[in-house]
Amino acid sequence: MSSTSSAEPKCLVRGSINIDEFFHLPHIVRPGETISSTSLTKRAGGKGANQAFAVARAGRQVVLDGCVGSDGVWVKEMLEKGGVDVGRVQVLEDELTGRAIIQSAADGENSIVLHAGANYHLPSSSSTHSLPPNLDGITHLLLQNEIPLSSTLSYLTSAGSSGSVTSVFNPSPMLTPDQLRHFPWKDLSWLIVNEGELGDLLLAFSSPSASSSQCSSAEDGNVPNSDEKDVVGALDENSSTLIEDAKKGILALHRNSFFSPYVGVICTLGSKGILYFDPILESESISASASASPNGTEQVGYLPAGKLVNPLKDTTGAGDCFAGYFIAGLMERQEAGTGDLESILKTCLTACAICVENQGAMESVPSRSSVNERLA
Ligand code: ADP
Ligand code: NA
Repeated sequence: MSSTSSAEPKCLVRGSINIDEFFHLPHIVRPGETISSTSLTKRAGGKGANQAFAVARAGRQVVLDGCVGSDGVWVKEMLEKGGVDVGRVQVLEDELTGRAIIQSAADGENSIVLHAGANYHLPSSSSTHSLPPNLDGITHLLLQNEIPLSSTLSYLTSAGSSGSVTSVFNPSPMLTPDQLRHFPWKDLSWLIVNEGELGDLLLAFSSPSASSSQCSSAEDGNVPNSDEKDVVGALDENSSTLIEDAKKGILALHRNSFFSPYVGVICTLGSKGILYFDPILESESISASASASPNGTEQVGYLPAGKLVNPLKDTTGAGDCFAGYFIAGLMERQEAGTGDLESILKTCLTACAICVENQGAMESVPSRSSVNERLA
């Protein structure tokens, strides 16, 4: 990675843009039933849009690459107003903007219908020689999984082969086990998962079919040992040993031959905070002291969630707030040429604390100055 760069870091988010429609109901509609909603709230959403918005709120340059229908022009305008460069947001005349129809029941239950709409449009899908994505001037790439995987992969592999673009992937919604096993992990810099997603990854990498689908590495550890099986089974929210199990899970992932040992991993744990593993820090500390820890779990860092100063209101979008603030922190560090991971992560956790104290996904993401105030 070049350290002499003069230009300000610039992030590209290639991802989804949605309109979220919340129907507030006494209960979730039963088959055959018709009920009236007490209110209808319409909000901009989609993980790509949410995360791009968060990067901008964190005070960093961000370009969003995605598609809406003509019914979504207001979303594009809202993003632009929020500081997102929407020059690469295409408005498709004969597509609908991605939609989430959310039934929100009085007892707190949710039920969601998704329509991918314009998010599933592929920019040059009609051409047999589609051009590789344009990453000119881009230093950081942020990806999720609400668009065609082929598009996500073409951006990631371009970033990987450039050798100079830092990439962050938040695999939500989760990929299939087969997609996970064939994912180009070597091109990725950072993976952000929650505890459920970490469990899914481990399961995909340790399933019986895993060792046969990657024959070259059959001998080096794809058959799960009993320890690894325990980890997969124990990753549920109610586990009192969630943090310890997730720590083991991250190390098992790091060592798995389907994965790349160079990928940094962050696991968000809701109200319990985060775990993080930085392979670069790891290699530095190993070379600095010959005595590596006998039991690998110490290598995974833990930080508690930011303290709430107001009542918990809405955790929607907390994960997206985290991802946006995280890549913004990496950008800041690159520009400054100095800075430690832990302070980047503490800023993210503080941003998330403010996010969950407020309603909404995008609307609740705090500005960098509010985060700084809370950190002070
Ligand atoms: P996701 O929505 O992707 O599952 P999480 O629920 O793990 O993401 O939330 C991301 C971050 O937001 C957490 O690491 C934490 O810092 C913060 N957060 C989420 N829920 C809460 C909560 N109930 N109280 C405090 N912080 C929270
Ligand atoms: Na929120």
